[in-house]
Amino acid sequence: MTTIRLDRVPDALAALRNEHLAQSLYDEGAVVMADTLLTLHGDAHRQRRLLEFRVFRRSFFRYYETEVFPRALQEVLGPVVAGGSCDLVDFGYRITMNLTADFAGIDRPEKTAAETAALLRLVMTFSEGATLVHSTRDKEEVCREVRAALTELDVRFLQPSIARRQALLAQLERGEITEEELPRDVLTVLLRNEDRLELPPEVLRREIAFYLQAGSHSTANSTVHAMHQLFCWMAATPGGRERLLAEPLFLQRCVHESLRLNPASPVSWRKPLCPLKLADGTAVTPEDRVEIDLWTANRSPDIYGTDADQFNPERTVAAGHEPFGLTFGTGVHTCLGRDLDGGLLPRAGTDPANHQYGIITLLARALLEAGAIPDPARPPVRATHTARPNWGAYQVTFP
Ligand code: HEM
Repeated sequence: MTTIRLDRVPDALAALRNEHLAQSLYDEGAVVMADTLLTLHGDAHRQRRLLEFRVFRRSFFRYYETEVFPRALQEVLGPVVAGGSCDLVDFGYRITMNLTADFAGIDRPEKTAAETAALLRLVMTFSEGATLVHSTRDKEEVCREVRAALTELDVRFLQPSIARRQALLAQLERGEITEEELPRDVLTVLLRNEDRLELPPEVLRREIAFYLQAGSHSTANSTVHAMHQLFCWMAATPGGRERLLAEPLFLQRCVHESLRLNPASPVSWRKPLCPLKLADGTAVTPEDRVEIDLWTANRSPDIYGTDADQFNPERTVAAGHEPFGLTFGTGVHTCLGRDLDGGLLPRAGTDPANHQYGIITLLARALLEAGAIPDPARPPVRATHTARPNWGAYQVTFP
């Protein structure tokens, strides 16, 4: 097998949009990823995405951002600020665990920190299973742990969440409640299954497990990266904190710049379904792997300027390209959580008071408003359990 690495933006875009290249990063992680949206291809993918897309509408993101999220944020942030310090990695995971559970459709009836921690533990195990290809542990042992975690998810969280939704769907059928009273989440949409797709229980279980991890790791890590970039920028920019708080559109621009420099998944993998020629002329066959290097493509000087590898929120990005680069992918597998986390791109005349900023910008704003600064006594450390350049611990204080 030959690996063909693509790190130029036009080649990366063409590969991500090529219908003869299928997702392959999660082939080894089938124990949790088989038949999930991210690994489906062709018609099966199109149909599932259309069904689930019902949850990811912009009107709902706006509602979530203004009504649901601020309450969830305060529940976690309030005690943390009162305590005077926190680890941003832990904070990010706790807040995004609730966010992704809301979108996946997993109820947390106890609403306790212990319950969130239990869910998070399961999600960490799913994630280890999904990225089995990179694991240095005994792979069969990891698979056993993933199977046990899937069972625990099923018994403790999924079955009660299914039962509550099925009761509501029955009430809807009898005309006792309206559409608007149904939960707005992937599980409800899948149980209702208006498109009559084949969804055996084990596929439904893996799909929900996939959603729980798809949103939580990327959002949590991207938030910590954004805070680090903001802290560095503020240290070098007199009046920086005041500007970030006074100009929310500029803060969102900074978050997009951080997303460009720190893609949650530095690479995407694809396998050719037939012999074909890539945009750069390379001939590939089904035996080859196409590795799309998002991290390097996002630093292309011809698109982002000669200082492309630096954090510069004032940069001009070449027309037709996103300020956050390829971080959310493109083509049929474009991230469904993109607008939820990254918000909408402002246009000329956008009213800052009514803009949808995205969850990461809201988190950054809340932390800055609370006065967060890096703890000089406990400098941040990189994560050691993953090859990805994430933060393992990032202590901040609220003086
Ligand atoms: C900063 C945060 C996030 C980043 C950087 C990110 C990144 C990505 C990327 C790169 C892909 C495409 C992978 C590929 O083409 O191989 C993807 C797919 C996906 N993401 Fe995200 N994601 C984020 C947050 C979220 C959230 C919050 C959710 C859900 C609530 C979500 C749900 C999904 C789903 C469902 C897919 C699969 C789409 C499909 O295959 O059709 N993501 N994400």
